[in-house]
Amino acid sequence: MKDVYSPDHKHIMTLEQFIIDQQEREPGATGAFSRLLRDISIAAKIVNRDIRRAGLVDIFGTTGEVNVQGETQQKLDALAHSEFVRALKRGGECCLIGSEEHAEAIPLATQSGNEGKYIVLMDPLDGSSNIDVNVSVGTIFSIYYLPDDYGEPDLDAALQAGSEQIGAGYVVYGSSTMLVYTTGHGVNGFTLDPSVGEFLLSHPSITTPKRGKVYSINEGNTESFDEGLQEYIRWVQHHDKETSRPYKTRYIGSFVSDFHRNLLKGGIYIYPATKKNKEGKLRLMYESNPMAFIVEQAGGRATNGHERILDIQPSKLHQRTPLFIGSEEMVKRAESFMQRKQVKA
Ligand code: AHG
Ligand code: MN
Ligand code: MN
Repeated sequence: MKDVYSPDHKHIMTLEQFIIDQQEREPGATGAFSRLLRDISIAAKIVNRDIRRAGLVDIFGTTGEVNVQGETQQKLDALAHSEFVRALKRGGECCLIGSEEHAEAIPLATQSGNEGKYIVLMDPLDGSSNIDVNVSVGTIFSIYYLPDDYGEPDLDAALQAGSEQIGAGYVVYGSSTMLVYTTGHGVNGFTLDPSVGEFLLSHPSITTPKRGKVYSINEGNTESFDEGLQEYIRWVQHHDKETSRPYKTRYIGSFVSDFHRNLLKGGIYIYPATKKNKEGKLRLMYESNPMAFIVEQAGGRATNGHERILDIQPSKLHQRTPLFIGSEEMVKRAESFMQRKQVKA
C-alpha cells in the first residue's frame, strides 16, 4: 500500500473530499447527507482521542449503571454515546437516534427550519468489555431516511428493514483508527492521520474474498449450539489439505475488529442462538444490519443462518438476531449444515 504522502501517490483524498465527490455524483444532492457523515466523523475523532488516553484519565471502568441490554455500562460506552448524540444534535441533519446505550429512541429537536431528515442507529462502543485491557473496540452506525411526510419522528420511523438503509459504517479504534462506510456504491476505508486530524482514503473499493480460512465464534457456547452448527464447527476443524482445513480460529470479543479482519482477509463471524441468548447476542438494528449492508456491498453475505439479515422486518429497537456474516462461500457452507440438520429434524 503506497504511502498516501509519497510524491508518486496520485493524490491525498480526505474523507471530506471523498464525501463531496460522491455527493456531486448524486443528482439533486443537497449536501445534507455529506454534512451528516461529517458530523459522525467528528464524533469518531473525539471518541478516538478519549480512547487513546483512557489509561491516563479516569474513564476506564463502569458507570455503575446497567444499560437496557442488562449489561454493565462501561464509562467509555456512556462517553461515546454522548459524543455522538452531541455531534448529531449540533449538526442538525439527524432527527432521531437509536442507541445501544439508551432504552428509547432519542428525537433531536432541531433548529426550526432546519428539520433533519436522517435517522441514525448506533452502537457507540462495540466490544466494550475489552476497554480496560487495551484491546481494539469500535463504533457501528446505520443511516435511514425519515419517511416522506412522516410527521414527528418516533421509534416506528426507525424500525425499517436493513435493505432500506441509505448508509452504514463502522470505526475501528485499533492499531490505527479507521472509518469504513458504504452508501450502496461500494465500500471505502479511511485511516485517521492524527498528525493532521483527517481521515485519509487508504482502502478504496474494499471487496471481501469469496472464501477464507478464519472462523470467529465463541466456542465456549458449543454445547448450546444448534446440532447443524456443531457439525459445521467439526467440519472446519477437520484436517483436509485440499480445502486448507483446519481453519484458524480468531475471536477477540469485539465484533467490529473480528468483522474488519475477516472483511479484508476473508473469514466468517458467527454469533448464533445460545442457551443464554436465545435470539443470538448481536442487535439487529445497529450491529447486524449495518455490517450486513457493508459486507454485501463488498461481495460477502449475511444471514441469520436461514434468512438474509437485510430482509428481516424489525419490531423492536434492541431486538437481537443470530448472525452468520463474512465470505460468501463460507456463510453458504455454514447455512448448508444448519439446513441439513433442519431438513432431518
Ligand atoms: P457490545 O460491547 O457493544 O455489547 O458488543 C459486544 C459483542 C461483540 O462485540 C462481541 O463479538 C460479542 O459481544 C462478544 O460476546 P461474547 O463475550 O458472548 O462472546
Ligand atoms: Mn456491540
Ligand atoms: Mn456497545
